[in-house]
Amino acid sequence: MCKIAIAGTGYVGLVSGVCFAEKGHQVTCVDTDENKVNIMKSGVSPIYEADLEELMQKNYAEGRISYTTDYKSAYKDADAIFIGVGTPEQPDGSANLTYIATVARQIAETVMRDCLVVVKSTVPIGTNDKVEQFIKDFLINDVKVEVASNPEFLAQGTAVRDTLHAARVIIGTDSKWAEDMLKKIYEPFNLPIVSVSRRSAEMIKYASNNFLALKISYMNDIANLCELVGADIQDVAKGMSFDERIGNKFLSAGIGYGGSCFPKDTKALEYLAKQNGYELRTVKAGIAVNKEQKTLLYKKASSRLITFNGLKVAVLGLTFKPGTDDLREAPSLENVPLLLAQGANIYAFDPVGKKNFEDRFPEGKHDKGRITYVDNIKDALIDANICFIFTEWSEVKSVAPEDYKNLMRTPLVFDGRNIYEIKDMRKAGVEYYSVGRNYHGR
Ligand code: UDX
Repeated sequence: MCKIAIAGTGYVGLVSGVCFAEKGHQVTCVDTDENKVNIMKSGVSPIYEADLEELMQKNYAEGRISYTTDYKSAYKDADAIFIGVGTPEQPDGSANLTYIATVARQIAETVMRDCLVVVKSTVPIGTNDKVEQFIKDFLINDVKVEVASNPEFLAQGTAVRDTLHAARVIIGTDSKWAEDMLKKIYEPFNLPIVSVSRRSAEMIKYASNNFLALKISYMNDIANLCELVGADIQDVAKGMSFDERIGNKFLSAGIGYGGSCFPKDTKALEYLAKQNGYELRTVKAGIAVNKEQKTLLYKKASSRLITFNGLKVAVLGLTFKPGTDDLREAPSLENVPLLLAQGANIYAFDPVGKKNFEDRFPEGKHDKGRITYVDNIKDALIDANICFIFTEWSEVKSVAPEDYKNLMRTPLVFDGRNIYEIKDMRKAGVEYYSVGRNYHGR
């Protein structure tokens, strides 16, 4: 078993650290935020993620994981140091590597024995080479430090499961020593391993995320055409999904992708291409489709109504997807300000994202409208003039079509996640708009 240090306790760092501990390694998680470190020490997860807190508590109690702000003690004698700090998007679309550079310098000035540095953060192609050189430039002690790429593919909401049962582990290095060390670390996971060069590993991460983002934008593009030509995107997706070459996942049309990865990684790859004198036309088109898609329902509702001014608007779901309290690039963040600016009185429901949303839009008046947060979907729907569905939480899916009819003043529903059968909503007497669908009387 190895002694592992993890730099950064965001989704990637914390989940990886907990899973390494669960598989028997000795893990120290490092973060600069003392408050966060104390919260983790008390057994509380700073992020909402299924199974994470239980595994944090178990491995902490069994002495396999610890949390600290003292990077020196964590790095000095580690076998491997995993970097999982953020690479946020900069205004020009490029990835900000400041946090990676800070950690690299700390490692260089601290390590006292041979050690492998593993970059887990999503970084532009060539970054691992630079990190290795940077560490060598600042290295104080006479030890061997190599850098390998080991990108992370976890999705929020299923992060622990995605890590423990990953479809593959990518090891990016040209060094046998580094490859063997990473293979040893991942041995207890018993997962397929793909060994490639560092640059290929970096590209695999971007290419995978961009491909998935494009898949969604493609389905959204086709969905918009379906509406115009009388086809139904859900039937189309079902028909496509039986082809193994296409697969049956990521075919759901809706109001566009959000989250911490797809929007950032598509822009970063487009930027990287531009820097290399190449125009990545497919990705560019995918980004443009997603941008339009996010306000599609607002545009549809605007053409159905004379005004939103003074209307009670129920908003069901605020997070970018279910199973997370994360709001990054969520469609709600674009639509709510538009509705408030038009004078809407919003009643918003979200089972876990409410608090984060409230931090940005405190309850009360904004622009010409108001926002109120409710714990119960019924309180949002009662006497409402219009309802928007932005996230397919199970609580939202469990609302019966009749409830919209019975509770709302005017049962007018704009569903960005296609969670209802059109025929059921019609039967209940709800005026229902969704994405890319047409009713064929079945
Ligand atoms: C994604 C990747 O799945 C993961 O491998 C990578 O490491 C990080 O980025 P995440 O952003 O957590 O994970 O969520 P994901 O489930 O992939 O969904 C991303 C967005 O796409 C969400 O807004 C979701 O609603 C949307 N989506 C997904 C669709 O609109 N349609 C689909 O069919 C699937």
